[in-house]
Amino acid sequence: MHDTLDKNKSQLKPIYNRSRELFASGGTILPDGVSSPVRTFQCVDSPPIVAKSGRGVHLVDEDNNRYIDFVMGLGSLILGHAPPSVVTALHDRIQHGTVFCVPTEIEYKLARKIKESSPCIDKLRFVCSGTEGVMSALRLAKAFTQRQMLLKFVGSYHGHADPLFGRGSNFLNAAQQSGIDPQIHKNTLLAKYNDPQAVREIFQQYGNEIAAIVVEPVASNMGLALPHRDFLACLREMCDRWGALLIFDEVVTGFRFCYGSVSNDLGVRPDLVVFGKIIGGGTPIGAYGGREDIMNVLQTLPLGSNVTDEDLDKQGGTFAGNPLSMTAGLAVLNRLSQDDFYPLMESLGQTLETALKDIFQQKNLPFGCVRKGSLLSVLLMDGPLKLENCDDFERQNFELFARFHFEMLKRHYFLPNSIAEPWFISFAHQDISLPEFARNVGEALALCLNS
Ligand SMILES: Cc1ncc(COP(=O)(O)O)c(C=O)c1O
Repeated sequence: MHDTLDKNKSQLKPIYNRSRELFASGGTILPDGVSSPVRTFQCVDSPPIVAKSGRGVHLVDEDNNRYIDFVMGLGSLILGHAPPSVVTALHDRIQHGTVFCVPTEIEYKLARKIKESSPCIDKLRFVCSGTEGVMSALRLAKAFTQRQMLLKFVGSYHGHADPLFGRGSNFLNAAQQSGIDPQIHKNTLLAKYNDPQAVREIFQQYGNEIAAIVVEPVASNMGLALPHRDFLACLREMCDRWGALLIFDEVVTGFRFCYGSVSNDLGVRPDLVVFGKIIGGGTPIGAYGGREDIMNVLQTLPLGSNVTDEDLDKQGGTFAGNPLSMTAGLAVLNRLSQDDFYPLMESLGQTLETALKDIFQQKNLPFGCVRKGSLLSVLLMDGPLKLENCDDFERQNFELFARFHFEMLKRHYFLPNSIAEPWFISFAHQDISLPEFARNVGEALALCLNS
């Protein structure tokens, strides 16, 4: 059943007065009025909207404009906003306390559920964000290998921990500008995504000093870039040959394409995996886990009575494993573990991809899209329609995207406000017409191209 508002929405003209007022006054108390920079809407022509509520596929702003949401908490909300099973579970839980700073049974339950989902995980630890997860996994890899260098890929985002911060190729400059000690970035090596030869050359030079490769197994922060099979295989081979660890940052990809780690489907096994977003059911979370011998570096029990604070200081967190995140996460994974879930998500993605390609063809628009499961990026670029690495991403027409974003907002569709983010389809998107959305994409792009 499709939402009737979907059909009428182009007749309703959104206004943004209250969002504008709130955002302006917020700027006097939060730098730029935000808690995370992309929320300034600086990359697009749309005015910043201030959110009021969300339910199912819809997000409502403070002016009561109702949008069909393709941001979905930047991938956190795979069931949509406020799914009843999560709301009920959280409602029950919250009455019994929200943080104890000792273990809870629900924490063990979620940990077990995650371990069962992914053969590459023997043990795991919970933290409170993806940033913390990747940072902790990297520190663990350094402790395990007794090395200091890491290799990551230009155009990737792994959160804002010092050694990983910045998507660009000039890390040392970025470090100086960001208040990071440039010495830290001297240990961060960079290669292009999907370039196995570059990886081989870097290992040839620094192989004995590299603790880990940190990589998104399917890149989702330069738009959606799918990995070539030989690329991931090469990463595994280099790590094995040189004694480095392979860390899959699955903050976006974990539980997105299949139940558990995407490595279940890709045929390349990481040593450590980082999850976030989806496993928290819309509440703050991160988790890192993997091979038992590596995870046991975190183990201090049983060390006897001589344990000092220093032994315990490898990683901590007041809210790590908190019962609210555990409860929401478990409610979501219970739904995701049912057999019908991922085929349904695939069919939603397929419907959207086909509809977009059809409309581009019908309207003679020189655009394309790349998709995996329920993630999709439009290709608004000059030259070949392909997105495999940062060079392809740089060919995107950022200026066109900025105008297009506003055109879609006016049509009551909320897209990620950077072309670096893919569009996130949720389970709740079965309640709207995806071909209707695609038609609006085509019309908006045609309008922007001609204006
Ligand atoms: C691949 C990836 N890793 C890590 C992070 C950081 O996660 P968080 O924002 O929860 O700190 C993100 C955030 O979007 C991400 O996309």
